[in-house]
Order: sequence, then structure tokens, then C-alpha cells
Amino acid sequence: MAEVDLLRALPKTERNIQKRAEAKDAAVVAVAKQFGEMYWDGPREYGYGGYRYDGRWRPVARDIITHFGLKPGMRALDVGCGKGFLVKDLMVECPGLEAFGVDISRYALMHCERDVAGRLHLGSAESLPFPDRSFDAAVSINTLHNLSRERVIVALKEIERLAPGRTFVQVDAYHTPEQRELFMQWVLTAEFHGYPEQWLQVFKEAGYTGDWYWTVLEG
Ligand SMILES: C[S@@+](CC[C@H](N)C(=O)[O-])C[C@H]1O[C@@H](n2cnc3c(N)ncnc32)[C@H](O)[C@@H]1O
Repeated sequence: MAEVDLLRALPKTERNIQKRAEAKDAAVVAVAKQFGEMYWDGPREYGYGGYRYDGRWRPVARDIITHFGLKPGMRALDVGCGKGFLVKDLMVECPGLEAFGVDISRYALMHCERDVAGRLHLGSAESLPFPDRSFDAAVSINTLHNLSRERVIVALKEIERLAPGRTFVQVDAYHTPEQRELFMQWVLTAEFHGYPEQWLQVFKEAGYTGDWYWTVLEG
């Protein structure tokens, strides 16, 4: 188990935290939590504000491939794959790698990249429809915090089951009260979030033996 920043090569996201906070209300949150068209391709107040493939995940894919020593013929899974950009880039960066995804958003899967159509499964992280140890690596990026604490533990057990000790999860966290305040202004869909020690306790309770990193908002 190790803390490792596998998203270090991802360009920083532009965030107007004040604008998000002003627009946010229960109705906006409810729409965002459907992970439908408004979340992906609607106004920024509801989510991504338009999410199109631009190759930004390619260097992240390279780092994941190196970290897990992935080779052609091996199998990798992205839990919370969205439109499948990372799944595509894993296969671009390691031709012959068998990459797959799972996501709860039918809209995202219906608007995935053509190259990954058929590789993305509709489902929840809490019930992954694959046999034990059926992947050489499994990652879940900015997804698990969308579940309640109890459901996060179930999902972590599922990820662990598929690729014991060869996994990576990145989740929303904060190191200071100021970062927590910024996060609370920005957050739309997350149900469980916390300081690193709170997450580490969750990992422990789940018997999670993989790697992890935090998404932290800075002012
Ligand atoms: C912030 S997006 C991250 C997408 C992608 N991993 C990335 O980093 O660009 C959160 C993702 O979690 C997915 N999601 C939410 N709840 C989920 C669940 N219970 N099981 C699987 N995916 C879920 C959403 O549909 C969405 O694709």
C-alpha cells in the first residue's frame, strides 16, 4: 500500500469556485447526481460543463502502465470510467493491453469514444460483474467519494477482489479546514469525503491493500 500521485501529469482543471457556490442548490445537486447529460455536457454549474476527448489522460495512462508494469495481453479495469477516455488512452499507450471500464452513467457510456464501445460496462462500483482476480490492475479515479461511507467500503472490497494489491483509488480529500471550506463550496455529487486519516480508516475497514491519492482543492 502506498500513497502515489498517478494523476501528476494531468493538466490542472479550471474552477470558478465562487460561481459554482452561488449557483448551487438542492435542485442542481439532484440533477448532477443523476450523472446524465447535464452533468457531463450541460452548464459548468451542473458538472463538467462539456467533457470531450482531448488526450489529457495519455500521460496519466503512461504512468499507470509503468506503475503496474502493464504489458500487452494483460487486463486493466477503470471503475467510474465515465466516457472511457482513460480506457482508450491505456490501450493507445500500451497496444495489446485489454482495458475495460465500469460506470453507473448510461449517458457517459452512450457517448463514449468509438474505440472503447463494447469495453465499458453499465454498473455500480459496489457490484462489479467480474470474477475474482480477473484483472492485472484496477483503478478508480474521482469516483468512490460519490458513495456513502458504507457503500465506499463495499466498493473498495470489490476493487480489491478483482486485482488484490494491484489497485489505485483517488478520492476527494482536504488537509486543512480552509481546503475543506473550498471543497464544501465546490462539491456537487460527493457523499463521503474527509481528511486523509478518515480515508485511511475506511481503507483499513475495507481490507484495501492497494495504492491511493487525494484530489485536494487549493484556493
Ligand atoms: C468525477 S467523475 C470521474 C470520471 C473519470 N474517472 C475521470 O476521472 O474523469 C465521477 C464518475 O463516477 C461515476 N459514478 C458515480 N457513482 C458511481 C457508482 N456507484 N459506480 C460506478 N461509477 C459511479 C460517474 O458516473 C462518473 O463517471
